[in-house]
Amino acid sequence: MLAGRKILLIITGGIAAFKAIDLMRMIKKAGGDVQPILTKSALEFVTPLTAGTVAGNPALSELFDLGREAEINHIELVRDADLIVVVPATGDFMAKMAHGFADDLASTAILARDKHVIVAPSMNVRMWEAAPTQRNFQTLVDDGMSFVGPDKGEMACGEFGLGRLAEPDVIFAAIKDYFFTFGENLPLKGKRVLVTSGATREPLDPVRFLTNASSGKQGTAIASALRAAGADVEFITGAADVPPPDGVNVTQITTAQDMYDAVHEALPCDVAIFCAAVSDWRPKAVGDKKIKKNGDGTAPSLEMVLNPDILHSVAQLEPDQRPQLVIGFAAETNDVVKHAEAKLVRKGCDWLLANDVSAGSGTFGGDHNSIIFFDGQGHQEWAQMSKAEVGQKLTNQITSYLKQPD
Ligand code: C5P
Repeated sequence: MLAGRKILLIITGGIAAFKAIDLMRMIKKAGGDVQPILTKSALEFVTPLTAGTVAGNPALSELFDLGREAEINHIELVRDADLIVVVPATGDFMAKMAHGFADDLASTAILARDKHVIVAPSMNVRMWEAAPTQRNFQTLVDDGMSFVGPDKGEMACGEFGLGRLAEPDVIFAAIKDYFFTFGENLPLKGKRVLVTSGATREPLDPVRFLTNASSGKQGTAIASALRAAGADVEFITGAADVPPPDGVNVTQITTAQDMYDAVHEALPCDVAIFCAAVSDWRPKAVGDKKIKKNGDGTAPSLEMVLNPDILHSVAQLEPDQRPQLVIGFAAETNDVVKHAEAKLVRKGCDWLLANDVSAGSGTFGGDHNSIIFFDGQGHQEWAQMSKAEVGQKLTNQITSYLKQPD
């Protein structure tokens, strides 16, 4: 995921400096290259041996140390990197960055930078809230740096408030997001993809609604794989058991009509994937009070009206407005191939992914899926795989399709 990416990681002297080691492990595991620089005060918390061993590159510290200035030119160090990350950034180091000090290797690298900088501050709550720190923060934001955290919580000094270092996985997500947004070689860079996901809810009265068992896991996995491939993802979701993926534009909806409106609002796009489990109908009238049993003790009857078919409405758009690829899902309980083939034609979509959701299939709410893929020419059975793998495989198919000459 970060293969070939070089990250200059500046570690300054805070009690949370050890978390930079966890961050380095994550970057390395994702295939990235880390060059650590430790400030003098960071050496009180992390040894160059630990940092260098985890990074797989010698940890550097002083500007003129080891007689290595000729060997490791501090300007080249910055030119070589794709991104600079400061973890943790103390109040003192923020002040140095904001005022252009350059009296050690870390601050010199910052002053000589031609790369984006992500800063994860860590300090006592009073130091964070102090007017000079807040001025420096604003200056650094104005200079184009981005910030992760600080978080709220208990501090090493026993006080409580804003100032804790963001967790390493959150800083790691910000690093990945930077490369997704600015990476040049990602296959879906510049493509806009719309994904619907989750379950719609159709209210009957103020406290009841009709819905289904969709967990939103498959739609989320697809959106995540598309994002990782560099696409700009419009993620339009109903109720789901899992949070939306990082880095996508989320629109949360309740009813099928809301989803219809949000989808048409989000157009145009290059590819549209309809993974949501949409309610085909809704109660004709929504009571403004809780519906009671009938006076004679019988159950009230419900009159239903049809919801708009969102997938169909997009597949039928005029060629100048229609996405290049319109992809539907079919959740079937029997005769999957027969029903799916008919659905592809009826809906007018280009591809259809059919899955068996019969009792015992484990598809709804589970982490795996068995897909039969229809592209209008024929069908292919995909081996059972995780929903994440389905997301990846579908993303690869989309990438190859969009690469074909017209
Ligand atoms: O007709 P059926 O509900 O089986 O079709 C499933 C496919 O159509 C899915 O891709 C689903 O997201 C989409 N759909 C829709 N709007 C509806 C009903 C289904 O977009 N009202």
